[in-house]
Amino acid sequence: MGQIHWSLLSLLCLLGYGGLAEGFSGLACNWGLQSTHPLPADIVVRLLKDNGFNKVKLFEADPGALKALGRSGIQVMVGIPNYMLASLASAVGNAEAWVQQNVSKYISSYGTDIRSVAIGNEPFLQDYKDQFVSTIFPALQNIEAALIKAGLGKQVKVTIPLNADVYQTDSGLPSGGYFRPELQNLMMNIIKFLQDNGGFLTINIYPFLSMQADPSFPKEYAFFNNTAKPLVDGSIVYTNVYDANFDTLISALEKNGFGRMPVVIGEVGWPTDGDPGANVENAKRFNQALLDRIVQGQGSPRRRTPPDVYIFSLIDEDHKSTLPGNFERHWGIFKYDGSIKYPLDMGNGRPIVPAKGVKYLAKKWCVMSPSAGVSDPNTLAQSITYACENGDCTSLGYGSSCGNLDAQSNASYAFNTYFQTTNQSKGACSFNNLAVITTVDPSKPPCRFEIMIDTRKQKASPSVYRSSAAKIEAMFASLILGIVGLVICGVH
Ligand SMILES: *[C@@H]1O[C@H](CO)[C@@H](O)[C@H](O)[C@H]1NC(C)=O
Ligand SMILES: *[C@@H]1O[C@H](CO)[C@@H](O)[C@H](O)[C@H]1NC(C)=O
Ligand SMILES: *[C@@H]1O[C@H](CO)[C@@H](O)[C@H](O)[C@H]1NC(C)=O
Ligand SMILES: *[C@@H]1O[C@H](CO)[C@@H](O)[C@H](O)[C@H]1NC(C)=O
Repeated sequence: MGQIHWSLLSLLCLLGYGGLAEGFSGLACNWGLQSTHPLPADIVVRLLKDNGFNKVKLFEADPGALKALGRSGIQVMVGIPNYMLASLASAVGNAEAWVQQNVSKYISSYGTDIRSVAIGNEPFLQDYKDQFVSTIFPALQNIEAALIKAGLGKQVKVTIPLNADVYQTDSGLPSGGYFRPELQNLMMNIIKFLQDNGGFLTINIYPFLSMQADPSFPKEYAFFNNTAKPLVDGSIVYTNVYDANFDTLISALEKNGFGRMPVVIGEVGWPTDGDPGANVENAKRFNQALLDRIVQGQGSPRRRTPPDVYIFSLIDEDHKSTLPGNFERHWGIFKYDGSIKYPLDMGNGRPIVPAKGVKYLAKKWCVMSPSAGVSDPNTLAQSITYACENGDCTSLGYGSSCGNLDAQSNASYAFNTYFQTTNQSKGACSFNNLAVITTVDPSKPPCRFEIMIDTRKQKASPSVYRSSAAKIEAMFASLILGIVGLVICGVH
């Protein structure tokens, strides 16, 4: 017993009383809002705090999210969607109005701690052709000018989240990194401007997509420990594509004289459904290793200082486009309702905790009527298609969590997702009399027939007393730990 205490205390000494690596102040993530039934903002803010997130990135200046984040202690990066770039680029007055209504207002009226504005989202993605090439830089300049005019030039930094395809390497080695030639001049202008204005570069890195796009991609290399077949780049040995990808950017920056340019990872994560490689096992493995690196303050071989890393994503979004693949709706470390998908250590043994105070619709499901077997197969197919177009059937595909259902259950799943998405409304479980309502959970693990959250009567559970009591308790505990730590470490 005594021995355990001793070693525990020595460990605390080693880690510095708080038990956190130097420079680690909390976690960061993306909070996307493309859901048919978004979790109420106050519940999400509590979820963030309960899990140690102190930085969050929004894809748009959502009023509900920005208000709920007011005086939360969480730092905010606010995004500007690509469709707004043309207007913001065309006149500085438009940028001033945007900053006034979507930044200044929340800082002054709600105490929202907005620290940066992310202009556009992956504007140079090759799929977009050259759509945003001429507007992104003027939009950046106008937003910066507007921030300065609003007196926020120091407090709120600017950045552009980029897809990792803005740089490449012919040798396959990170040291060979360079910017795509057709973007070279523009990238230089952008980076110089960001540097002159105290901004930073943001890059999204997706080992999952590397693996998913190329069947011959070595799976272990997508995770963090391909020790069997590492990539050797001069004196550097890469065991994972995440570091190799990041360092390709760093060497591209170094080659152009921007070796000290601050870089943030804007998105990185692993989905849990909608693709054979997207499952709980892989997501847990990737995200846990990622979290461990963040908590330990681990950088890459070429840049030892760890970047801020925004995990993608916090919550599943059942209304995202499935163009990239069915997995696109399943990136959350939490499900649509803020429940836990798989256990995670959020740092120093702190387990992931679910959302509190979530209200659900009634405990009923819509399934295919057992007596509907003889029906016209065309009607059935049409009904399923209709249900899937309006609900979310991304778990039904090959290799997905509901990919092994028989035809009857498959139809039931489609009917239920429609029924739930439409708030279990009257008439939403008919499908030409092919469907009936049941109160018996039709789930067939791992396939879950969900019940939608009730967005009409949500409110975060009142926890003022409990949380302030917990805070005092925690303060007391850390005070004691601090004193004990000081004494013991002093003695060592
Ligand atoms: C931000 O401000 C502009 C005014 O320029 C407004 O039109 C826009 O809808 C606001 N909201 C978001 C989410 O950007
Ligand atoms: C990497 O780690 C995982 C889980 O810890 C293990 O199963 C796997 O064999 C390791 N791979 C290599 C190549 O070391
Ligand atoms: C289940 O439904 C989906 C979506 O309509 C369809 O693509 C799939 O082929 C169906 N599977 C079976 C076994 O009926
Ligand atoms: C479901 O209920 C929410 C909250 O009242 C509402 O915003 C949404 O439009 C409803 N959806 C449908 C399809 O009725």
